[in-house]
Amino acid sequence: MKQWVTLMDGIDRLQVQEVPEPIDIKEDEVLVRINAVAINHRDIKSMTEFITISSMAISKGGMRLLPTRMVPTSDASGTIVKVGRPAAATKWREGDRVLGLVRPTHLTGPTRSEHHALGLGFPQPGVLTEYRVFSGLRPGADTAGRQQHFLLQLPLAWMALNWDRPIDRPVRGPQTVVLLQGTGGVSIHALQQATALGLTTIVTSSSDEKLLKAQELGATHTVNYNTTPEWADEVLNLTQGKGADIIVETGGPETMPQSVRAVAEGGVISAVGVLTGMTEEKPQLAIGLSLINRNAVLKGINIGPRDRVEEMMRLYQQEDIHPIINRCFKFDGAKDALTYMKDGFHFGKVVIKVNED
Ligand SMILES: NC(=O)c1ccc[n+]([C@@H]2O[C@H](COP(=O)([O-])OP(=O)(O)OC[C@H]3O[C@@H](n4cnc5c(N)ncnc54)[C@H](OP(=O)(O)O)[C@@H]3O)[C@@H](O)[C@H]2O)c1
Repeated sequence: MKQWVTLMDGIDRLQVQEVPEPIDIKEDEVLVRINAVAINHRDIKSMTEFITISSMAISKGGMRLLPTRMVPTSDASGTIVKVGRPAAATKWREGDRVLGLVRPTHLTGPTRSEHHALGLGFPQPGVLTEYRVFSGLRPGADTAGRQQHFLLQLPLAWMALNWDRPIDRPVRGPQTVVLLQGTGGVSIHALQQATALGLTTIVTSSSDEKLLKAQELGATHTVNYNTTPEWADEVLNLTQGKGADIIVETGGPETMPQSVRAVAEGGVISAVGVLTGMTEEKPQLAIGLSLINRNAVLKGINIGPRDRVEEMMRLYQQEDIHPIINRCFKFDGAKDALTYMKDGFHFGKVVIKVNED
């Protein structure tokens, strides 16, 4: 079988290798024929900024060293072709459509370092391969063909909106204003979820064309962050001075100063990403003071546990939400898919088709 491997030294140096199909399947495992893989920003980071990431991890003593050669990416859907005996056979049958869990051991509650250590694609081997043995799985796409398998961005978006709320009582109604930064996978999934929950949404983007697409998906307001760099003022204008109750903070160092100005009193900034880069510099005092004055919460969010994924999927089924797939590449075109996403051409999700259904 074929699989892509990376030395974590850049997209251009990814290689396809021919390896034997796995035959040693333990009793609680299953062999899955991968159908499609969804790419995440993290896959690109881990391939292009390996040295930065690993040295930061080592300096914090949190993660162990990465293997030097590994299969990248973490989100996959597929079909079971072989079941380990007897434990897996009680849950799964050959032919079942399944989804991989990015962090298979994270079942409930906050993310802990032991969940990271077993994360697929980083630091454990990933899913850009024709076949893979799994132990943590979810039932797959439903009969309506809903592409529910793209599990990293979807639960992250859900957690950014609902992190401290009891299960099955998500935030609802137009009185809650949500600010979504950019039109990548996380923000567009959050937009679909927020729209289904009836929230008021404000989307920022560098592109007016993408903002129009966001409006078509239900965005209440849009702001171009290139032509309006002080976009916090616009958020305050649009909300009659109140600000956003929830901010899905994907930008990091460059967007955070605007976010703390745009957050409503008692609101939450869900810090999910660092698209504008990573820095070890001390946070500015002004950020701390703004948070204090606004009595706001700055909350780090890291994907989400299995029970929140299941909660989120119930909404997708009830509201018939279909995640936005921007472009689907062939397996041989994996490098093009990763480069396309790295260059920021996408709106929503980028997918690699591995095997036909
Ligand atoms: N914490 C977690 O568990 C977790 C899980 C998944 C992802 N993440 C992180 O979440 C972030 C978003 O992930 P993603 O997969 O959605 O990434 P993505 O699809 O690559 O999103 C990229 C988009 O972000 C927007 N962007 C870039 N710079 C921006 C800025 N200064 N202000 C506002 N928007 C900006 C751009 O949108 P426009 O083209 O519209 O300008 C760009 O297209 C990444 O940092 C990723 O690593 C975290």
